[in-house]
Amino acid sequence: MLIVILFGPPGSGKGTQADYIAKRYDLQHVSTGDMLRAEADRGTALGNEVAPIMAAGNLVPDDLIVRVIESRLGDVGGHRGILLDGFPRTVAQAAALDAMLERVGEHVDLLICLDVPEDKLTERLLGRAREEGRADDNLETIQNRLDVYQRDTAPVLDHYRANSYTAIEVIDGDAPILDVSGRIRDAVDRHYRDAA
Ligand code: AP5
Repeated sequence: MLIVILFGPPGSGKGTQADYIAKRYDLQHVSTGDMLRAEADRGTALGNEVAPIMAAGNLVPDDLIVRVIESRLGDVGGHRGILLDGFPRTVAQAAALDAMLERVGEHVDLLICLDVPEDKLTERLLGRAREEGRADDNLETIQNRLDVYQRDTAPVLDHYRANSYTAIEVIDGDAPILDVSGRIRDAVDRHYRDAA
């Protein structure tokens, strides 16, 4: 099974690039943000619990998100592997993921990190706020999400740098969408020439 993490700060283009990557490499796209938003929209118990946390731009508790992911890892829907978008987001989540995978003889093969300057991230998220009105796309919450990323999520990169199984590709994501897709494709193909 091919296990790929799509990593990067809020607004770096994870969701935008995920469909392209998932399709090209036959991966099941799993977005924890999308899953949690769907729960909140449906008004489930889980959704009601996480909605205020997400609206404030904070992370939902590790144990909750690990349970959500665990139920998805066992079912890749006939695909060749899985593309994790928005998970893991803390070192504790990464350690839990590694342990889950180790139990079934798997590991994270590749981490793709989208690198975009902070002023561009804010600009993009404010642009999306005007178009889509997502609850966490306002200036105050965006700043908190960026701070949370630097404090809690960025260290996940070092966690995987220290893991000999996992290749890391840092992609300059500050370019038109199709150019970024091309850079990702070139990077992934370097690792999996037979994958496309
Ligand atoms: P999540 O949904 O994962 O949000 P995020 O990480 O903040 O990411 P975004 O969706 O904002 O950005 P993106 O990188 O996907 O960029 P996008 O492609 O959309 O998480 C939301 C919340 O859920 C969290 O804050 C937390 O509360 C909770 N949560 C989720 N996972 C969790 C976890 N594991 N643990 C704990 N809590 C968790 O692009 C953004 C905009 O930019 C779009 O308008 C797009 O059109 C535009 N754009 C994209 N690429 C380009 C480009 N190249 N040029 C110009 N514009 C571009």
